[in-house]
Amino acid sequence: MEHLSIKGGRRLTGSINVEGAKNAALPACVATLLTDEPVILHRIPQLRDVSTILATITSLGKRVTREGDRVEITHGETLKAEAEARYVKQMRASFLVLGPLLARLGHAVVPLPGGCTIGPRPIDLHLQGLKRLGATIEERVDSVAVSAEQLRGARIDLPYPSVGATEQLVMATTLAKGETWIENPAKEPEVADLIDLLRKMGAQIEVTPTAIRVVGTESIHGAEHTVIPDRLEAGTYLLAAAITGGEVEVKGVVPKHLRPLLAVLKEAGMMCFEGNDTIVLANTERPHPVQVSTAPHPGFPTDLQPPLVAMLSLARGKSVIEEMVFERRFGYTPSLKRMGAHIVLTDRTATITGVSTLWGAEVDAPDIRAGAALVLAGLAAQGFTRISQLEQIDRGYAKIEVKLSLLGAQIERER
Ligand code: EPZ
Repeated sequence: MEHLSIKGGRRLTGSINVEGAKNAALPACVATLLTDEPVILHRIPQLRDVSTILATITSLGKRVTREGDRVEITHGETLKAEAEARYVKQMRASFLVLGPLLARLGHAVVPLPGGCTIGPRPIDLHLQGLKRLGATIEERVDSVAVSAEQLRGARIDLPYPSVGATEQLVMATTLAKGETWIENPAKEPEVADLIDLLRKMGAQIEVTPTAIRVVGTESIHGAEHTVIPDRLEAGTYLLAAAITGGEVEVKGVVPKHLRPLLAVLKEAGMMCFEGNDTIVLANTERPHPVQVSTAPHPGFPTDLQPPLVAMLSLARGKSVIEEMVFERRFGYTPSLKRMGAHIVLTDRTATITGVSTLWGAEVDAPDIRAGAALVLAGLAAQGFTRISQLEQIDRGYAKIEVKLSLLGAQIERER
């Protein structure tokens, strides 16, 4: 079994390039199901989750050609209406194929999704939305079957701005009859990027401050699109600089996508400098404690909560972090505690009393971002840290050990 071996205590310095956003690349690949024409996507990161989504759409009939970060997706065989459990169980984003298949074929069967173990991840908002569009839904033991001769535009009020439900419904309604208003949609940059791609494919979509309006068309066409840079990868490396008292430049980012993190980092005493497409973080001291609640965009992103907690475990004082998006996203804190962190959990809140030293330990990466948090803790800890279940980290971070080594970390992937 592969693991990461880290000898902590090195200050990270230097520059790194950020990959394309995983969470923009995944729905972009799914959106290609909406047309038989070729779609060319650029800046697609080489990640396990991307391979899984490409395998999912290939199994549904698409042909995929991949050269580096360029992926060309064309018509292969006749589109199939049934997605395979072996893909959808690996990753929740595969469930997004439901809406496009329904819109194209009038029916679809998709297994219930798997994914990170960060709390219950229901699909009720996806299904309620499709129902509003006229779909008949049959919830089976292990899958969902949907059908509709013709999806019809409707007003859908999302009780919560779910990223996945918004993406599902925007994709499905591009081919619905008439006009759809999705009220209270997710506003994450990755959702905006999907809308950008769909517009290039000929979809008629308008975004207002509180809603998304989609006017359905009979068909949409091929397009070429470059996905946005990964704000979560960039944020993780900025936090790696912060926890090691280093100075790191992340290149090829959209700084405004990272403002919620930068605001917290500044409050924690870090110096942050924004360029056009770069951010530099410099830190020489232990962080100041902060109070943060995660929230949908433009709030503090839940995906950066675990690496933020890792950094705050070395702060000078007591920080309070509330996790308001996913109920069980503190599953990595017992591992951080084994490394010497002082964290008390109550319901959705972690109270972190900063310590002056973390100690290396043997730990497992329970999910993508939790894995990243443990890597950061290992970089700052005294002694060796060994992180297993690397496949979780590989789902979301390309060559993490290579990038961190370039910044001066002592980190290796071992078998
Ligand atoms: C997306 O997941 C991301 N995944 C997640 O990133 C990210 O943490 C999350 O959005 C929040 O930003 C992808 O984009 C592939 P949600 P998603 O639907 O779409 C509840 C990572 O590490 N909810 O906005 O699943 C749900 O239980 C991953 O890269 C319902 O109640 O997130 C949760 O509490 C992890 N019913 C909240 O909404 C539903 O039908 C947010 O979920 C759907 C969601």
